[in-house]
Amino acid sequence: MTKQAELQLVSIGAGQRSVDQAAPELLYLSRDDIARLGGGSSRLYTEALEEALALHAQGAFVQPLKPYLRSGGADGHIADRIIAMPAHIGGEAPVSGIKWIGSKHDNQQARGLERASGLIVLNDADSHYPIAVMEAGLISSMRTAAVTAVAVRYLAKPAFHTVACIGCGLIARAQLLSLLEQYPQVRELHLYDQQPGAAERLSDVIRERFADTVIVVARSAERAVREGEVVITCTVADKPYIPFEWLRRGAFVSNISIMDVHKEAYLQADKVVVDDWEQSNREKKVLNQLVLEGRFSRELLYAELGELVIGAKPGREKDDEIIILNPMGMAIEDIACARRIYAEALKEGIGTRLPLYG
Ligand SMILES: NC(=O)c1ccc[n+]([C@@H]2O[C@H](COP(=O)([O-])OP(=O)(O)OC[C@H]3O[C@@H](n4cnc5c(N)ncnc54)[C@H](O)[C@@H]3O)[C@@H](O)[C@H]2O)c1
Repeated sequence: MTKQAELQLVSIGAGQRSVDQAAPELLYLSRDDIARLGGGSSRLYTEALEEALALHAQGAFVQPLKPYLRSGGADGHIADRIIAMPAHIGGEAPVSGIKWIGSKHDNQQARGLERASGLIVLNDADSHYPIAVMEAGLISSMRTAAVTAVAVRYLAKPAFHTVACIGCGLIARAQLLSLLEQYPQVRELHLYDQQPGAAERLSDVIRERFADTVIVVARSAERAVREGEVVITCTVADKPYIPFEWLRRGAFVSNISIMDVHKEAYLQADKVVVDDWEQSNREKKVLNQLVLEGRFSRELLYAELGELVIGAKPGREKDDEIIILNPMGMAIEDIACARRIYAEALKEGIGTRLPLYG
């Protein structure tokens, strides 16, 4: 390990002064670097997520509300934006950072590119100097999958074996592969995408690794949702289309794409859980609309996810409860994952060191 890397590791571990002022450097990690460090599979992310959610429940974080940069104006497509997500997380190795994540709804069709792209910057907790820059798309999709994987442990029926997924893009792929890695009990997937061929393409990817899983390409969102003991939304929908009536008794909905579930379903569900109330109650998202209409409030919310992780509240209590999780996505989740990846990179000597000045 280089002297600089050692200094940075000391800082991350013990909060000591670390950045070499004569020649500050940072570590750049590409997507391939991150994958080589274990960032291509779910374990690193679920561990980091449990840690981040516990820190959230304990208040050991700073996380300003994220601004949405909409250069196309407020009337543009919901997925046409760049979001800045800064956070500081505590724990044994405090660190600050930001995810700067762009999204363009037509990237796939118009440019052959993934919808989302971005960078994560990590900053030394003492000097605030940047110490790492890394590709954000992989981390972002895998940490979002880890939110569902962790939440399932607390909120799904313990013996669940069917999963429905609406929207079959990159986020759906990470969600389903992570769930299959973490829960070998999953036997059946029901997939639906409004774009012809998308569900079939995702099925092929999943079959390469999980050949025994039964995969049904559904003819409608309703058909898929009605089958799901766990239901995951991964669309870019801007209007709800999942009414309460489609949900099975005992269903757990991980509403990753946020806008998919009808207002009435939130009001009829046994429990509504969010990751962070302040982050969730904004931007005219469905929950925020309900609050603005005076039909939902902090008091009606069952819990923030971290409260379940630290055991402050029980998760699912009965097999027939219908539970909706609305995870807006928190910067602390990205920074907690990036912190682990950075520490691994220093240990393994992976990445490209870049001078800040020279
Ligand atoms: N909550 C979080 O923390 C978090 C984090 C990352 C991404 N996301 C969200 O995940 C969603 C999916 O992202 P992605 O990168 O996979 O996008 P993507 O564009 O790659 O895939 C979206 C898929 O959904 C399909 N789709 C769109 N509207 C649909 C509808 N009404 N019914 C059925 N299918 C529909 C599209 O055809 C496409 O195949 C986005 O909304 C994104 O904002 C949430």
